[in-house]
Amino acid sequence: MAQNDTAAPSTQTSYAPSTAFAEQANATAALYDEAEADRLAFWAEQANRLAWETPFTEVLDWSEAPVAKWFADGKLNVAYNCVDRHVEAGNGDRVAIHWVGEPVDHHRTITYAELKDEVSKAANALTDLGLVAGDRVAIYMPMVPEAIVAMLACARLGVLHSVVFAGFSASALKARIADAEAKLVITTDGQYRRGKAASLKDAVDEAVEGDGGQSIQHVLVVKRTGIDVGWTKGRDLWWHDVVDAASTEHTPKAFDAEHPLFLLYTSGTTGKPKGIMHTTGGYLTQSSYTHFNVFDVKPETDVYWCTADIGWVTGHTYIVYGPLSNGVTQVVYEGTPTSPTEHRHFEIIEKYGVTIYYTAPTLVRTFMKLGRQIAAEHDLSSLRLLGSVGEPINPEAWRWYRTVFGADQTPIVDTWWQTETGSIMISPLPGVTATKPGSAMTPLPGISAVIVDDDGNRLEPGTDHGEQVSGYLVLDKPWPSMLRGIWGDPERFKETYWSRFAEQGWYFAGDGARYGSDGEIWVLGRIDDVMNISGHRISTAEVESALVGHSGVAEAAVVGATDEQTGQAICAFVILKASAQGGAENMVEELRAEVAKEISPIAKPREIHVVPELPKTRSGKIMRRLLRDVAEGRELGDTSTLVDPSVFEAIRAGK
Ligand code: WTA
Repeated sequence: MAQNDTAAPSTQTSYAPSTAFAEQANATAALYDEAEADRLAFWAEQANRLAWETPFTEVLDWSEAPVAKWFADGKLNVAYNCVDRHVEAGNGDRVAIHWVGEPVDHHRTITYAELKDEVSKAANALTDLGLVAGDRVAIYMPMVPEAIVAMLACARLGVLHSVVFAGFSASALKARIADAEAKLVITTDGQYRRGKAASLKDAVDEAVEGDGGQSIQHVLVVKRTGIDVGWTKGRDLWWHDVVDAASTEHTPKAFDAEHPLFLLYTSGTTGKPKGIMHTTGGYLTQSSYTHFNVFDVKPETDVYWCTADIGWVTGHTYIVYGPLSNGVTQVVYEGTPTSPTEHRHFEIIEKYGVTIYYTAPTLVRTFMKLGRQIAAEHDLSSLRLLGSVGEPINPEAWRWYRTVFGADQTPIVDTWWQTETGSIMISPLPGVTATKPGSAMTPLPGISAVIVDDDGNRLEPGTDHGEQVSGYLVLDKPWPSMLRGIWGDPERFKETYWSRFAEQGWYFAGDGARYGSDGEIWVLGRIDDVMNISGHRISTAEVESALVGHSGVAEAAVVGATDEQTGQAICAFVILKASAQGGAENMVEELRAEVAKEISPIAKPREIHVVPELPKTRSGKIMRRLLRDVAEGRELGDTSTLVDPSVFEAIRAGK
């Protein structure tokens, strides 16, 4: 995997770290050897980077597979590990969070000592509200410091948080509250979006009223924008009344390593989102280990910035638990990347001297489109490492990212993982790996991932059989931060992840992949009915069910079509009911609005085609593959299994 020194930068295929970077890196090649020599001893060592109140004696219990137990007889408190222990180590004055509000004059700096006080107060307030270990709390908040404080306060009490992305609609929030039977929602009055304050509390009111909202006892509201809110006496409480008045004294209690930490709902192949459940010891071990080694963090000097939202798993693991467990200083930004101007991210990097920047390919492509002259106006020389997550990054965007953000110097870590894996699984180690643009490279030390064919035979890396064909990406050994289940649905957990290769006992991630010539992994994207829109997972079934929920729609089929900007874009094909025909023009806009209302504006289809029929097999299954061909303007694939191949003429005519 030597660097190809003779190639021009634009076609260079492999980028080795500089000697200077390699020499100072946290992780060396020895990490692979250690993990290889004794995997469980390796993980025990990583777990012991954390503070355990009761040390564990057993590393892994896989006897009840696929539900793993890691470090099961150990006890720890996650919030203590993320906050208190840094203060006890004498680092209370270190900045934990440089918070940057969307309005340019809003910012706050929070040290670890201050964070400890805030988390303690919030934990006391939640206790006063009657919450006890095992209860569920929904957090529906923009990127404000209180959101992080709320998550840590839950963790401190052994209460499970279920963070719901603040861009989701009231009905999406309602479904998640009902499924988890949450007792409390923590929210804000409103949120800033592109300079404007918009209500958030309204959506909560709508979500907790009526069926499905009965479990909610209180709504705790942070005043963020000052806009008017409806108020239900007795139920609604202001954060500044309840939390600010609470004591800063709070002694954390240790919980079993397998005590649940959080639920995070994610799209699956059916319309109903799944509550992915993570536990404490294993999750924190791998989050902390990957954050330390993949991002090469030096807590004393680095300024780290992950641009994700806490509503997604990247925000959980690489804004909250990974960075805070390592005691780093980070930037947390509230708003959209181009508000008030497209210079915003570059200004933040410059102002705070950001050294590590972790973002999504879709944002890199947005910056690419805006042009390099914007970046050129800023001093980005503080950056020493760049990261990418959420979807495959195309080599062109990778190279642009390295050139424009990284002065052609910085390593890029393309990190493959999922909500279910909890933390990074496949990624370069920045001081070790010669990376190829577009490949997440190889499993991290301690992790095992292989690409297999339909029958579970491993493709052979380094041969034509491995490189020319794509297969299924599977995780063939348990890992510490693996999901422990789907909330309330153990059968669905088995069925979704463990049935495809049940005989072998492997986890199937839902992604297709192929090997490259050096045995590195190229992730090709989802092969199930899950779309990836700007790094957001949305299932075709969810959008279909929102569409058929509209009274004018008889049938709907949704596919993800390749999109230059967002990776994939949602394309819908709908058959209208006879009663709705005639108004087809307005209908398209109405349906887009319906999807935004039912799910989120991020799930709005790019295109909706009103068609007379949908292509179906004899067994009645919609042939999405063929619709994808239509959406992407390709020649149709094999249509022989269709009941009526001529339906495409009608679809094309309607398109
Ligand atoms: C995709 C996000 C290629 C993949 C952390 C996976 C990626 C899904 C990468 C999980 C990457 C994530 N290269 N594909 N570096 N990272 N994916 O649960 O399809 O929101 O299955 O977790 O995103 O999305 P999720």
